[in-house]
Amino acid sequence: MNNVILIGFMGCGKTTVGIKLSYRLRMPFLDTDKEIEKEQRKQISDIFEKEGEDFFRDLETGYLQSLQLFSKNQVISTGGGLPLREENRRLLKQLGITVYLKAKPGTIYERLKGDKNRPLLQGKNPEEKIQALMVARESVYAETADITVTVDDKSFSEIILEIEEALQ
Ligand code: S3P
Repeated sequence: MNNVILIGFMGCGKTTVGIKLSYRLRMPFLDTDKEIEKEQRKQISDIFEKEGEDFFRDLETGYLQSLQLFSKNQVISTGGGLPLREENRRLLKQLGITVYLKAKPGTIYERLKGDKNRPLLQGKNPEEKIQALMVARESVYAETADITVTVDDKSFSEIILEIEEALQ
């Protein structure tokens, strides 16, 4: 099978779903955020703080380009902002089948309140930040996706089953 790439907002479950899906499909799992952290030997929050968001976005593009060279038959979970760049969307299309895990802002807020690892949601009013970012990003995710699965109030098994059916 082609690569299966998971996209969606922070906290929609890309990493957990990705790991479980990779077991089901018997394909290796890879997480772009984790790979960038390994490469840079820094946490994403440090990269944002010291080098800024644009620098991180360049790392995402560079990493996606390198994936074109070696990635086949993998489940790949991506950072929530990765599809924002047009170049990245083009690279995703070449890389495989893209699955959008769609969640409501309220679901994301419940999962991420108190989270310290998402630089874009720190500070006052995380709920408003989630809402605003989602409004700005929804069409990008929808446009990038080959398959969309809503995740609110669903168990991981239900989500995996839906993805597997859609992939057939
Ligand atoms: C980001 C999402 C994060 C991480 C970074 C920026 C975003 O990944 O890449 O904090 O812009 O939505 P997750 O979606 O895995 O939280």
